[in-house]
Amino acid sequence: AGADLRPGAHPLARRPADGRRSQQSGVRMTVSPVGREVARVDGRLKVTGAARYSGDYSATNTSYAHVVTSTVARGTIRSIDTVAALAAPGVLRVYVAGDGRLRLYALAPEFSFFGENYIPLQDRTVRYYGQIIAVVVAGSVEQARDAAALITVTYDAQPPRSSLADGPREPSDPTSSGEPSSVTVLAPGVESIDEALAASEVVVEADFEQPVQHHAAMEPHTVLAEWDGDGVTVHAGAQMPTPFTILLAQRLGVLPQQVRLVGRYIGGGFGARVIVWSEAPVAAAAARELGRPVKLTLTREQMFTLVGHRPHLIQTVRLGASRNGVLNAISHESVAERPAAGGWNMIPGHSTSDTLYNTPNLRINPQQVILDMPSSWAMRAPNEAPGAFALETAMDELAVATGVDPVELRLRNYATVSPSTARPWSSKHLDECYRDGARRFGWSARSATPRARVDGQWLVGTGMSSAAYPAARQAASVRIRLRDDDAAVVSTGTSDLGTGAWTMVAVAGADALGLPLERVTAEIGDSALPPGAPAVGSGATHSTVPAVVAAARDTIAALKQLAVTHSGSPWHGATAEDLRYEQGRLYGNDRSMTFGELLRALGSRGLDATASEPAGDPPGYSFHTFGAHFCEVRVNRFTREIRVTRFTTVVDAGRTINARAARSQIVGGVIFGISGALLEENHLERDTGRLAASTLADYLVPVNADIPDIDVHLLDRPDPHLTGPLVEDGGEVGTRSLGARGLGEIGTVGSAAAVGNAVFNATGIRVRKLPITLDKLL
Ligand code: MOS
Repeated sequence: AGADLRPGAHPLARRPADGRRSQQSGVRMTVSPVGREVARVDGRLKVTGAARYSGDYSATNTSYAHVVTSTVARGTIRSIDTVAALAAPGVLRVYVAGDGRLRLYALAPEFSFFGENYIPLQDRTVRYYGQIIAVVVAGSVEQARDAAALITVTYDAQPPRSSLADGPREPSDPTSSGEPSSVTVLAPGVESIDEALAASEVVVEADFEQPVQHHAAMEPHTVLAEWDGDGVTVHAGAQMPTPFTILLAQRLGVLPQQVRLVGRYIGGGFGARVIVWSEAPVAAAAARELGRPVKLTLTREQMFTLVGHRPHLIQTVRLGASRNGVLNAISHESVAERPAAGGWNMIPGHSTSDTLYNTPNLRINPQQVILDMPSSWAMRAPNEAPGAFALETAMDELAVATGVDPVELRLRNYATVSPSTARPWSSKHLDECYRDGARRFGWSARSATPRARVDGQWLVGTGMSSAAYPAARQAASVRIRLRDDDAAVVSTGTSDLGTGAWTMVAVAGADALGLPLERVTAEIGDSALPPGAPAVGSGATHSTVPAVVAAARDTIAALKQLAVTHSGSPWHGATAEDLRYEQGRLYGNDRSMTFGELLRALGSRGLDATASEPAGDPPGYSFHTFGAHFCEVRVNRFTREIRVTRFTTVVDAGRTINARAARSQIVGGVIFGISGALLEENHLERDTGRLAASTLADYLVPVNADIPDIDVHLLDRPDPHLTGPLVEDGGEVGTRSLGARGLGEIGTVGSAAAVGNAVFNATGIRVRKLPITLDKLL
């Protein structure tokens, strides 16, 4: 696998200054892979089965665990009968709720958000249907699972709180940065949002409901825990390798440096692999107690209760506008499920109603209701995707109410400063997304009148929506090693969930060092590496790339230092300033050598340096990635079958690092949106508190036949502030700021609304309760 350097893929990727100098020096010019169509560096390993996922690892003398889960939603375990299980073939241990042998602990208070709020298997309380209440360890997977089926449990059960209507409602928690989750902005002289709405010429008000949705990663959560003395190595998928070790260490009552997380290849995360759930602590504690490695894989059914879900949510959006569609007020209220065992703090106005449109009056008021159901957690664009479904559907309703074209309506309300903070954006080309998208899609051919286009037995409709997602810098450390074979290794403990992070790290390294991609190897997915950027919040790329640039600067400085101080070096006695590094070579005093030649001459195998970049965005700006979606659906006149037939998305995500991977991320995000709009739903059974779906046959996700070709266009305009002042080209190594912004979640934001708006245009029926299934169109 290597670079696909098709000409013209990226005009900004050319480096004329470097190239001219290189040609003068007689060196073949290396073209930066940044922005080009680069095939995944791990692609071949993945498609040949050589990439090792967590479950592909084994250890000597491994034993296998299977968890038993609760069948009531609230109460206390009265008895657990393990006699038959303990006597079953191959069984080594049965640990039940309250088993002190596991020695598990609570998370420290400041980390309590990053896990469930109880200690797994340490008491007899049942907090939700599907909670781990016992674990069987045996000589094989089959023996463990067979024995687990022999365990019988009795409960003292209470009726669960299982409906948002049960209340009481309480305000959502403050945001992670400590700000209140509610927002109120009122124009001078306006007393309340209700007053602002009442004074508006046109008011649109609607309720939107979204069911429980699941991350449904292809790879079930698997952990292999192997102790060596008082240290444990855990093979598991983790979006944040270093925080994973901190959280697991707290659960185990050990120090973070006693835990190593290895998770190089991961079959999807989407938020479900951000925190440490119960399976990893249970497996690692069992391995410690048993004195043997333990491997634990959750079943697909267990994946629906043990690793989080997108919370059930009801939103009320009210828009007040003038007759020509200029907004005067946005009110965005919501009530979300908040599981008693812990979960995600839903603020669906975040980066939607507080960001997308210019409005003098704004009110965001998120509330929650405590329920006895499995823990929830962030799922791809956790606030923004649900929030945009509500806001962007309401905007379509406003377009209908005012007779203003939906694209024009959004341009009329275009925000140039954040309506909540009044800060300008570091870079915002959303208007170009609208116009480019409309042109690519053929929006002008649309009729605003529902049911105006019929093709045989199909009603054809089109809809659009906006998207925004915040861009936040996370801390990242990167080590670069230059080797005596003229290759480089770029190492950082970030994570690739399937996003393309392996390739991003290699591309950034090749660019920073001026090397061909084939000579750069990435190393990620291991907490033993320098702590990398968390693969969360669409932040891994824009957090990692600046640290790669800094590490390249420091490594080249170390190389120059070696060249002038080592007695065997031809530059011995010169000063580092006499030397120039370019594209893998040092130049100075009329001679040049590659770094490999120099290292070999000095008898060194290699040299490295590590650089760290802190978390935090530069002050004074709002940072968001933006996008616009355009969707065409066909709805069968007789059966109401809904097919998405065309989709165009234009994204403004700063500079593109890898055009192919970036497009793939947007395609994946849009598929998430289509899926959420039309298919995904898990029912919570009111009486039992049980989430009804247990397989991917009753929790629907799309197959290829459900998804059309998705036309994705990336504007590729570098952000001049997020990753430091832009330096395009030609400067010293380590000064180049690429200006990328993340794009892992933006495709999921607003895409469901674009589908729903297209369904309205096709049928004249507005469905505000997801998923939009054919029965709702009859
Ligand atoms: Mo994400 S929902 O930030 O993994």
